[in-house]
Amino acid sequence: MSSDILKNLNPGIEDLNPYEPGRSIEEVVDEFDLDEVVKLASNENPLGASPKALSSLTELKNDLHLYPDGNGTKLKKEIAFHENVSVDNIIIGNGSNEILELAARTFLNPNTSAIASKHAFAVYKIVTQSAGASLIEIPTLNWGHDLDSFANYLEQNTKVIFIANPNNPTGTYNSHKEVHTLLKKVPASVLVVLDCAYFEYVTKADYVRPIDLLKEFNNLIITKSFSKIHGLASIRVGYGIANPSLIEVLNRIRQPFNVNAIAQAMASIAINDKEHIQQSIKLNSEQYEFLFNQLSKLGLECIPSVGNFISFKGGFTGQELFYGLMKKGVIVRPVDLYDMKDFIRVTIGTESENLKFIGAIEELL
Ligand SMILES: Cc1ncc(COP(=O)(O)O)c(C=O)c1O
Repeated sequence: MSSDILKNLNPGIEDLNPYEPGRSIEEVVDEFDLDEVVKLASNENPLGASPKALSSLTELKNDLHLYPDGNGTKLKKEIAFHENVSVDNIIIGNGSNEILELAARTFLNPNTSAIASKHAFAVYKIVTQSAGASLIEIPTLNWGHDLDSFANYLEQNTKVIFIANPNNPTGTYNSHKEVHTLLKKVPASVLVVLDCAYFEYVTKADYVRPIDLLKEFNNLIITKSFSKIHGLASIRVGYGIANPSLIEVLNRIRQPFNVNAIAQAMASIAINDKEHIQQSIKLNSEQYEFLFNQLSKLGLECIPSVGNFISFKGGFTGQELFYGLMKKGVIVRPVDLYDMKDFIRVTIGTESENLKFIGAIEELL
């Protein structure tokens, strides 16, 4: 069969690799004939979905033949209340990834560039190059975003800057002051995307206060996710917060019914489930300490993280440890895609999941 069709790829797509999701439990159970597998690979919430959101599921069945609310009226109202902004400041997406993509499609084209840190969340490169634009990658400082140097890399054609705060897979974060200083240096015509998918997990006093920044900068969009603290990764819902004129242009290219009715209904409840949010934060803080200490005692080098995951390395390649752990029923994530071939990223699980993981690592080292 001729592959002429592949000669017509849009610019930027040729050297992209598909995003590699974590292996699923079912796949690994089948492949290795295991009875019990724990998944600590995709930074999901080990406590599961918000129980209050789950209990609303049965009520939805009478309306499944109807299109979802294309305006996301109720969910946007709940988000606006939670964030203390107006409904006009909100756009909802099929995961916060969709908001990243909408931002790229709105401002990037083959004559433009975007900026992101090296080792930053993989989707920035995918959405930038899918829009035909080039990505300028900025060297990191202690694995974190070196925001002080970002403005030095701005080119005439730079239209978007992506900041992952905290970043995945490094778990590093930037302070309010660092983000503010960068925003002051960036031309008002350049969009700054502040990706706060792990916002709720961060307990640092100097962490960014995104809504304060929004009051000062019209070229800022903040993105947040229901996939992490709320435990709703499978229903795909996230949101963006920005000034109303920016939200309005993003809405022009948004698919009409991008967030399904189940996702809208469950997210509307989850955002108010304070108990689940608090329990998730508490578990994560306690188990982070436990995992960080255990891994360090085993002589492994961990990057300090403010998220719900830790990246670490030792005397192995990430792929070796990944396969070794998988055979023992623990799925983690190699991070070759992030140019971190010696590292493994592990999601912070429940106490028993973490014990299983540490036990398996001890056997392998
Ligand atoms: C830094 C970061 N941003 C955004 C996302 C996307 O999250 P979602 O599309 O599930 O909301 C992720 C997912 O892992 C992430 O790590």
